[in-house]
Amino acid sequence: MNNEKVKKRIEQLRADIERHNYNYYVHNRPEVSDFEYDMLMGDLTALENKFPEFQSHTSPTQKVGSDITTEFKQVTHKYPMLSLGNTYNPEELREFDNRIKKIIGDNFEYVCELKYDGTSISLTYSDGKLQRAVTRGDGEKGDDVTLNVRTIKTIPYYLKANDFPKEFEIRGEIFFNKADFEKINAERKQNNEALLANPRNAAAGTLKLLDSSAVAKRPLDCFLYYILGENSFSDSHYKNLTKARDWGFQIPEHITKCKTIENVLEFTEYWTNERKNLPFEIDGIVIKVDSLKQQMQLGYTAKSPRWAISYKFKAEQALTKLISIDYQVGRTGAITPVANLEPVFLAGTNVKRASLHNADQIELHDIHIGDYVFVEKGGEIIPKIVGVDVSKRESVSFPLKFIENCPECNSLLIRNEGEAQHYCPNEFSCPPQIKGKIEHFVSRKAMNIAGAEATIDLLYTNKIISDIGDLYNLDKTQLINLERFGEKSADNLLLSIEESKKTPFEKVIYALGIRFVGETVAKKIASNVKDIDSLIAASFEELILIDEVGDKIAQSIVEHFKNDNNLQIIQKLKDAGVNLKRDENSAQKKSDKLSGLTFVISGVFDKYSRDELKQIIEENGGKNSGSISAKTNYVLAGENMGSAKLEKAQKLKIKIISEDEFLGMIM
Ligand code: IVH
Repeated sequence: MNNEKVKKRIEQLRADIERHNYNYYVHNRPEVSDFEYDMLMGDLTALENKFPEFQSHTSPTQKVGSDITTEFKQVTHKYPMLSLGNTYNPEELREFDNRIKKIIGDNFEYVCELKYDGTSISLTYSDGKLQRAVTRGDGEKGDDVTLNVRTIKTIPYYLKANDFPKEFEIRGEIFFNKADFEKINAERKQNNEALLANPRNAAAGTLKLLDSSAVAKRPLDCFLYYILGENSFSDSHYKNLTKARDWGFQIPEHITKCKTIENVLEFTEYWTNERKNLPFEIDGIVIKVDSLKQQMQLGYTAKSPRWAISYKFKAEQALTKLISIDYQVGRTGAITPVANLEPVFLAGTNVKRASLHNADQIELHDIHIGDYVFVEKGGEIIPKIVGVDVSKRESVSFPLKFIENCPECNSLLIRNEGEAQHYCPNEFSCPPQIKGKIEHFVSRKAMNIAGAEATIDLLYTNKIISDIGDLYNLDKTQLINLERFGEKSADNLLLSIEESKKTPFEKVIYALGIRFVGETVAKKIASNVKDIDSLIAASFEELILIDEVGDKIAQSIVEHFKNDNNLQIIQKLKDAGVNLKRDENSAQKKSDKLSGLTFVISGVFDKYSRDELKQIIEENGGKNSGSISAKTNYVLAGENMGSAKLEKAQKLKIKIISEDEFLGMIM
């Protein structure tokens, strides 16, 4: 790989890992399995080590992921909450053992513990009373979730005995038992709520509920595994944990001291098989050097202790027969193949369906109907097919051929160059696409029209609505004539539709369901265009100046508004009085210090993001512009500013200022 390619690959890996961090820590909905995540991290670490010129302190290899949300008070950890290095096989564990021996010699012991698969918590006790419970957050600071943690029955509020240190922190894992998790999901299914992918996500999500009484209703549990503080009870981690049991903490009984790495390996092997019989989920084993003095001697890297490591289990797999394939059509027309399987028991549930993602995956695994396939559960709800047992294939069998026509409307499918997914192009008359678009429009994060989602099928099949605009023309008589529709539910639905007209512009943009325009991009667009007409009129060149809008998104927006059907829908929304403009009061005036000045922002900044800087400019009376012209007063330049822009600014003799100089202007 040449340098340019390495740089690109590093940037791609960093962006992917940041996205996975966000999905995992903030949304509690990981897109990839831990194994895949660790592989990405491993690739990035290896590249950064090999090409140190591309190392950066902001790289995800240098920090732990973040679960911080804005709703809780943030607290800085007295001792940072680090993560653990991962190993996947005995060789890597032996390497860990050799590294330790090189530093502290042969005279030490290990403690082996289970790696509980939940969400970590740090509890501070003072004079035997729980003072505070804080999530890991970004490792430096986390969310104060004390009120929620106080509802957990296995976390003592007052300690027993009286030989505990005056002040100390104890860390552990909050989790749900497998059975309790199943119960929660069964309830969610009954209430038509989205299912939670696994007990870990359920625990993390519950801990972040804003209503502690709702937390109290769920049976969260907690195991403790790490004590910190100035006055330890003894030099042995094992003894300290055992002692903490007397103070009322739940310390699991499956901890063992091991003298050699061979004993450690026996422990890992035993639990690889036995873990299925535990009432709670574990995703590996944690191995720690027992003596605290030796732990100090070994010290830490930027992210993790050198005295401990985790041994991660591979995701469980099962082998079963592929019976048939269903092709699902999403709201954007994307076709997803889903495999129907002979039911097989895997990691606690009966699996009957598995995702195949797209035609490339089918080709990659060379899947034939009737094949025996390996299914694996990652962090997702739907398991995936990861391979075929070719030895079990019938002597006469045929490769699976991807469909050519839409299973719903029979249109010829298309596949754009460079894209893995097939699409049905019949956007305006393919039923699942129309219904999907309306469902997206009414969803909570979009127009939030309560009670509409369950009704869409009924309204569409009865030809009462055929696009999102028709929602605003519904009347009560139409509704109560429908099966299962009472007066009350009709009133509620109409009220909720009426309320939705006030939805903020950014959410309306998101609700329109423009391909590739997710919530974040919609927000950026809303802060850059004043109303829907400006968005419709915006050219590709203007759109790509908006932060986070690249070629693909800009093109998709232009295409969307080129289409007459979409313009008619916008007209219906306008006629109904839906809010289609930016709230001008959202940028509150703070001063006039920049009045009359036009700024162009370029590059990457230390203290603020480009959007924040744009907002600061507006709040202080200044104007933002996307391109440099004679009218520009200042170019606010960050790192990596484009050379063309720099040249142009110099040519026009426009003042180039740094972030600090700019901030000085508004002091
Ligand atoms: S010790 C400085 N012990 O694994 C190291 N962690 O990847 C402190 N975890 O954030 C962690 N079981 O959430 C430790 N027996 C155990 C654990 C454990 C689960 C989690 C914990 C930590 C993560 C590290």
